[in-house]
Order: sequence, then structure tokens, then C-alpha cells
Amino acid sequence: MDRIETLMGEMTLAEKLGQLTMTAAGYAVTGPIIAGDSTEAIKAGTIGNLLNLVGAEPVREMQRLAVQESRLGIPLLFGFDVIHGYRTAFPVPLGEAATFDPQVWSLTARESAREAAADGLAMTFAPMLDVARDPRWGRSAEGPGEDPFVGMRMAQAKVLGYQGPDLAAADALAAVAKHYVGYGPVTAGREYASVDISERTLREVHLPPFEAAVAAGVAALMPAFTDLAGLPMTAHVALLQDWLRGRLGFDGVIISDYNAIGELRQHGVAADLAEAAALALNAGVDIDMMSDAYRRGLPIALARGLVTVAQIDRAVRRVLTLKQRLGLFDDPYRRGAAPEDAAAVGRRRQLARDVAARSLVLLKNHRAALPLAAGVRRLAVVGPLADAAAEMRGPWCGVAEAEGQVSVLAGLRAALAADIRYAPGVDIDGEGMTGIEHALEVCTDAEAIVLCLGEAARMSGEAASRAHLGLPGRQREFAEAVLGRARSSGTPVIVLLFSGRPLIVPWLVEKAGSVIAAWFPGCEAGNAIADVITGRVSPSGRTPVTWARAAGQIPLYFGQRPGGRPANPNDHFTGKYLDVPNEPLFHFGHGLGYGRFTLSNLQVWPRRVTAADTLTVRVDVSNVGERAAEETIFLFTHDKLAQVARPVLELKGFGKIDLQPGGRGTVELQLPASELRFLGAGLEPVLEAGEVEILVGPSAQRSVLLVEIIRVFV
Ligand code: GLC
Repeated sequence: MDRIETLMGEMTLAEKLGQLTMTAAGYAVTGPIIAGDSTEAIKAGTIGNLLNLVGAEPVREMQRLAVQESRLGIPLLFGFDVIHGYRTAFPVPLGEAATFDPQVWSLTARESAREAAADGLAMTFAPMLDVARDPRWGRSAEGPGEDPFVGMRMAQAKVLGYQGPDLAAADALAAVAKHYVGYGPVTAGREYASVDISERTLREVHLPPFEAAVAAGVAALMPAFTDLAGLPMTAHVALLQDWLRGRLGFDGVIISDYNAIGELRQHGVAADLAEAAALALNAGVDIDMMSDAYRRGLPIALARGLVTVAQIDRAVRRVLTLKQRLGLFDDPYRRGAAPEDAAAVGRRRQLARDVAARSLVLLKNHRAALPLAAGVRRLAVVGPLADAAAEMRGPWCGVAEAEGQVSVLAGLRAALAADIRYAPGVDIDGEGMTGIEHALEVCTDAEAIVLCLGEAARMSGEAASRAHLGLPGRQREFAEAVLGRARSSGTPVIVLLFSGRPLIVPWLVEKAGSVIAAWFPGCEAGNAIADVITGRVSPSGRTPVTWARAAGQIPLYFGQRPGGRPANPNDHFTGKYLDVPNEPLFHFGHGLGYGRFTLSNLQVWPRRVTAADTLTVRVDVSNVGERAAEETIFLFTHDKLAQVARPVLELKGFGKIDLQPGGRGTVELQLPASELRFLGAGLEPVLEAGEVEILVGPSAQRSVLLVEIIRVFV
């Protein structure tokens, strides 16, 4: 009989429920602190999984307790939020999304897995795949941005990166796709609020990244805290059992979010812990993270007849199967057996620097204020984010130490021989303004001013919704003072914006010379920023989210349906505001480089397609600028006439090309005609005969796209 069936036959109910329990071991608890010391429970075999334990030695000791001192010696599964790095902080996922490079997404996940597994960890609660179109919600920072196609590509890349080719390898982590599903559209962007979206939006926008993760072989999924139209995801039978396990055939582990099972009581759908545990188990949740509902509630639920032992056994088998796939039974100490060498850490930091540089999005570069002149002699680096090394990590920064981060000031001082003067001006979100005068003095006589503004890392990520989406504190007053002084002296101002979301700062964009969206670039922030603003690297990032002009425009994203009265400035009774234009401040995909690109000669063939065909899309790109640069080309479709109203643009692909000044090249993308399927009126996939626009260009700004029309035959 195989190992799992043998164990199943030997385990007591308490030991089974222990395998369905994950508790925090007390490092950086990521939610309300509930559980205390786990040591005795591990020896008793009534806790089978831990999260937030850090360090190879503590992990090894806990593993030893489980394997050598418990009755059955079942190894522990150690999980952690390795979201964008473990000790080496890469850019936050929203910043990585701006690279539009799946190889980067996979590589940083692979490196993060290596680093975390070297500490004995075997699971990461990542990738976060929540499509987010409401910047009031803080968790936009953790995900792929506003578009499901990007979410699907990131899902595939991250799962392959974290899990590697062999889940049993010493450097492999079980990935956990989260938060299943539809967490992004929380009501009013308020964290943990109820979600109420159409079945169509759920199926067209929010489910695809999770389908891609399952197709890529993700080991586990985590339901969202939220309810979807009144049904909490942690107890959602239709989406967990029927859709995920039934329709998609997912047979991996479902692990609850932190205390989410217990919180079914707060949702008002469970009278007590036993009912909460029964609801979750009946929905297919295997591991209870931190609510202790399974250990304390399921015995009562069994006695009440709310669940069966067979259901418990199914969950336990899935958990033991995952541990077996991870190689934990073969060698519980395989992960963490050998510390990484310095060379590996060095290579990782170089990767962090390269990726951070590629995540920067040059939103504006008026009169080519960037790159800085090579011989710049006097530079003012001012603002509350100028020397804020710890903030560069962003939210969910693993165990990256503040000391290990490179601030903007440090990076520029390392890169330039210039006289670089610094002043914070104001705090990130304090009310004081006494430092502004000194900062203005620091700017006097500077040849350029680097103005570092934005959010603190804690202002995005979980439990970080914001109702006002401008600059926190007195940063606007400070920025206005610096911009005013610079205008009178003709000094160029380069704004670096650090945030976990697209901020609403039209006034700043209008007055600044250059603006870079830096997101939170990670441990090598200052060096990467220096690489870009000195011109060693041409900025190539493209924004994965639309930037609104006003909060009132939210939700604002490129994939909207046209409505019956599309905006027409000459017709009062059409879809627009009285007080702001519909156009965003910056379109999805926008980003400048140090080159200047023109597109021409869009070719699409075949022009008449059936489901079995694959379209080839080619476009010529020329760099008519003075510097080498990378261009990203997006492929959109628009189904002009269908049985349901279709989005005015749908992203179906993207590609890149590097060109020297004066260089020309061609970007070629493939699009299977089957990708033109959509969910018909009955929410079943259909491919309809008729014309479809193929649109290609540098962003979702329709006016700059090249268009060809194909005809579909069915
Ligand atoms: C948090 C988050 C989830 C995370 C988990 C464990 O509350 O919602 O993303 O993985 O708890 O830290």
C-alpha cells in the first residue's frame, strides 16, 4: 500500500485535522494574531503546516520535531508570502508587470524561490492574480494590473518560475494562485468589502488568470476574503467545487486566507466555528489558515452531521499528496540543507537592478529633460522619498531588510561625480511644512532637480485602501513650491513617483518636466533609477494600468464596452462628464523611452480566417530618435458587431523590439483565430462570423493604433 494510504489508515481524527491546519509561527504575522506557540502541537501531530517562520535553523528545528518526535513523523509544510522576493526585494508585481516581459516575471519568481527554499520554505502564497481597475484598492500593487491577458501571462510565468521544472527539487516552491476570485472589484475600492459583479465580468476578466494558473500546473489556490454577490469565496461551492475542481479539473490544494474560515461568522453565514468549518470543507477548502476552525470546529460539525469523515479524508489526501509531490517525505530537510553562496546573491541583486530599471515608466519627458547631461555638476535630490531606502521595498517585501535597500540619493551619489545636495522637504504624510524652505535653498543653483514623491510602502498592499488618490500629507504644497522655484530659474524638474497604484496627479504631470512612475522598485531602486536617469539604460516600462485624471472617472480601463451613446463632444446627450474629459491622463501601455518610434506597414494574414487558422500580424518599427531604445508593441482586437456588446479594445498580445538610432525592424505576433472566441449571450464560448478589427500600437490610445480588418468565417 502506498505511503499516503498507509498514513490515512493510521491517523487519528486529531492528526488528520492537524494536516488541514496552518498556523503562524510568529515571525511577521500578516493578520490578527490568533495562535500561540506551535511546538507542542507539532510534536502531538495536530499541526501539519506553518507560515511566517523565517530562517533555515528555526525551520529545520520545527521540521525535526515533526519528523522525529511526532507519532507518524509527517513533515511540515512551510509557507510564506514570497510575493516579489524573499530577502532580495524585486519591484512590486505591478512594477514588474510594467516590463511586459514574461521571461522577467518567471526569472524573478525562480530566483525568489531559490532564496526562500534555501531557508527551508516549500510554499509561497503567490502569484497574486487579481485584476484591479480601482486604484482606491491598495492591493493593485500586488497584481498584474487592469488586464486579464496580462494576468494570464503573468500567472503562467510565475507558476513556472516558483515551481520550476520539478516540484520536488530543493529550490522549488509550491505556488498558490490567489485570491480566487474577483477580489479586485471590492465595493468603492474599500478593502475586504463585498463584491458584486456580473457573471460575464467574472468569466471574462477575473477568472482567466486563475484558469491560466491551473493550466500551468499551480499546486494550490487561495480563495479571497470577500463575498461574491453574497457568497463568501471561502464557502463558494459553485466556484470552488463545480468550476475549479469540476470544470477546470484542479486537483491541488485549496488553502484559506488568513482566518478566512473563522470570518464566515462575520460574513453572517455561519453561526459558529463548527458551521464555518463545515461550509469551508463542503466548498472544498483543504487547509485552514489561522482560524483553527478545522481543529476545533470539524469534530463538532461531524457530530452534527454537517460533514463526513470521507470529506475530511479527501482533504487530507490532497495535502499529503502535495507534501509528497514536494519531496517532503523523501527528504524533509532537502530545502534549507545548503546555504546559498555569495555569488548567487550577487547575481540576484544584479537581476533586481536590471528588472527595476525595466519597471520604470517614463510618463513624460518634456524637452528631453532626461537623460541627465553626462557632465551635470550640481544636482538637487529632494522630497520625502529621496532618501527613503526602506520604502523602496514596497508592501509584502518578504524579509528584505531596510538596510539592504538602495535609496534614490545613494544610487545617484554612487553613479555621479556631481555635487548632489539633499533635503526631504516634507514627510511622506505628515502635516509639517517647515522643511520646505531649506529644500528650496538646496534647489538653488542646481542644474536639475530630482523630486521624489509618492506613497509610503504601507499605503498600498493589504488593508491600504485610499479614498484620496493624490500625494499624501503636504507633498503637493512642497512640490508646488519646488516647481514654482524651478520655473522661475528655468531648472528642469524630474519627478520620481513611488506608489502601489496609479496616483491622480494631473497638476504635477502638467508642471513637471519629466515624470517617472517608479512604483516600488525594490532593493536596487537607487541604482536602477540612476541607470535610467543618467541614460545608461533607456526606460522601457509601460504602464499596466490606466492613469485617471480624476477619482470620479474610476473605474477607468481600456477594455470598456462602447455603450449606446459613445462620447461625442458635439452632442450633449452622449457618454461623458460635464467636468472632466473621458480620456485618461495616461493610457494603458503608455511609456516613453530615449528613442522615438514610428510604426508602419501593418500586415495581417490571412484576412479570411476560420477557427483553425492562426493570424500573423507584422508591423515595421523605426527608431527615429537619437538614442537606442526598446519599444513594446501591443496587439488588440475589436469585434465591432456581435451578439453581445464587446469591449472597444481587447488585448491579445504584445511584443518588443530593441533598435539603435535610425534602426528599423519588424515585430511579428501570432494570434490563433480561436482567441477571437467570446462568451455569447448564454455565457458559452462562441466564434461568430463577421469582421474583426486588428489594432497594433504602443498603447491603448486608439488614435495611435494601426488598424486592419479581417473577416471570420465559421
Ligand atoms: C493575508 C493576505 C494573503 C496572504 C495571507 C498570509 O491576509 O490576504 O494574501 O497570503 O494573509 O499572509
